[in-house]
Amino acid sequence: MRLDPGTLSVRDFYRWMIHTVVPRPIAWVSTLDASGVPNLAPFSFFAPVGANPPTLMFCPANDRFGRPKDTLANIEATGEFVVNLVPFALAEKMNATSATLPRGESEFARFDVASEASAVVKPARVKGVPIAYECRLDRVIRFAEGPAAANAVFGRIVSLHVDDATIGPDAWPGIAAMDLVARAGGEFYMRSGEVFAMERPE
Ligand SMILES: Cc1cc2nc3c(=O)[nH]c(=O)nc-3n(C[C@H](O)[C@H](O)[C@H](O)COP(=O)(O)O)c2cc1C
Repeated sequence: MRLDPGTLSVRDFYRWMIHTVVPRPIAWVSTLDASGVPNLAPFSFFAPVGANPPTLMFCPANDRFGRPKDTLANIEATGEFVVNLVPFALAEKMNATSATLPRGESEFARFDVASEASAVVKPARVKGVPIAYECRLDRVIRFAEGPAAANAVFGRIVSLHVDDATIGPDAWPGIAAMDLVARAGGEFYMRSGEVFAMERPE
């Protein structure tokens, strides 16, 4: 079959995307609002961009009223955020933090998520994550206006936290030790299972 995005509703085409671009890593993004209240929310439209300069991106869509989500509003107000990668042990807390809370109420406090100070930026990282990228805002690209309109946030990585306990015999964080979860379609998630290797051609 062929699908023409122009003939589908935004909602329906979004559902095709989330069911087919899988697995998606999850950026669990911690920010502070202008008065210093912490915020935490997951985003699976998330990718590394490049190492020169060290950059990553994620995509907080506008909410159903066409307003920026708290995460985007906070990043535009403060210029800083932390992308935490989610281990299986924290998957349920991550999911809980996707709830819409009144602006100014912290998901850390409401869902009892422990935090610890970041090295360079003001927003804290989530305690217990194997990996956390501290970022300063590079740029935001707004692709449209209104409900569910796409936005991309690009962050310059200024510090990388790695849990030493994940480091394996080859000196890299082990896939099993990090135990990261990824998002699939609907309510489904994936956890690293079978792993295989391939040498790259010259
Ligand atoms: C696993 C997962 C992935 C999500 N990915 C996205 C995403 O890529 N973009 C988005 O706008 N919302 C995404 N959401 C929904 C947001 O987490 C949700 O709207 C949240 O309330 C935003 O919080 P904020 O208003 O504090 O920024 C996702 C939710 C979950 C559970």
